[in-house]
Amino acid sequence: MRPETRDLFEDRLDTTVGRVALAPGAVLLRGHALADAAQLVDGVEQIVARAPFRHLVTPGGFRMTVAMTNCGELGWVSDRSGYRYDRLDPESGQPWPAMPPTFRRFAARSAAAAGFEGFAPDACLINRYRPGAKLSLHRDADEPDGSQPIVSVSLGAPAIFLFGGAKRADKTLRVPLRHGDVVVWGGPSRRYFHGILPLKEGGSPVLGGERINLTFRKAA
Ligand code: SIN
Ligand code: FE2
Repeated sequence: MRPETRDLFEDRLDTTVGRVALAPGAVLLRGHALADAAQLVDGVEQIVARAPFRHLVTPGGFRMTVAMTNCGELGWVSDRSGYRYDRLDPESGQPWPAMPPTFRRFAARSAAAAGFEGFAPDACLINRYRPGAKLSLHRDADEPDGSQPIVSVSLGAPAIFLFGGAKRADKTLRVPLRHGDVVVWGGPSRRYFHGILPLKEGGSPVLGGERINLTFRKAA
């Protein structure tokens, strides 16, 4: 890419409205969740009352800095034995809280806006980042149906999202994500590497400086 093209692209990454193509099949929808944000935050509070945030342990034995919970028929979990989707919350032994219909509709609308019609998520992973929390470069590869996209909604404090390629060593874009932004990736970039840089202190008073991220998935 010629340097001037790259600069133009990076300016576009910093816009406050509109859409930015990140990779084939991957698009940033700036502010797409703003009108629904209050309802999404209310929904998260109700889910967390029944399935509290917890710091999962990786198969390698590390405690994740991001705290997680889920809603939907399936929830993503990690422990010493590996990563998987489970119908039950291992903390309570109960099914995960149901996915609110408003969440389901919002995810389907976002996917359609990115060109993926008919998205019907059965899992929503909810991540909570406090200052210092990060998510290392990884791929979302535990969902068997690679034809279905990931819909990711950012709420609260801003963060830098890394979006790479099919190989871990591929160059990553640094995408600033703010309250109300939505990223959808599917098709050719469905298994691309991505992550979140450590959350900064005092980033935003919205949600008391925390960042909440919802990722909607078709996991069965
Ligand atoms: C994820 O990769 O599951 C979450 C990404 C994010 O927090 O924006
Ligand atoms: Fe992910």
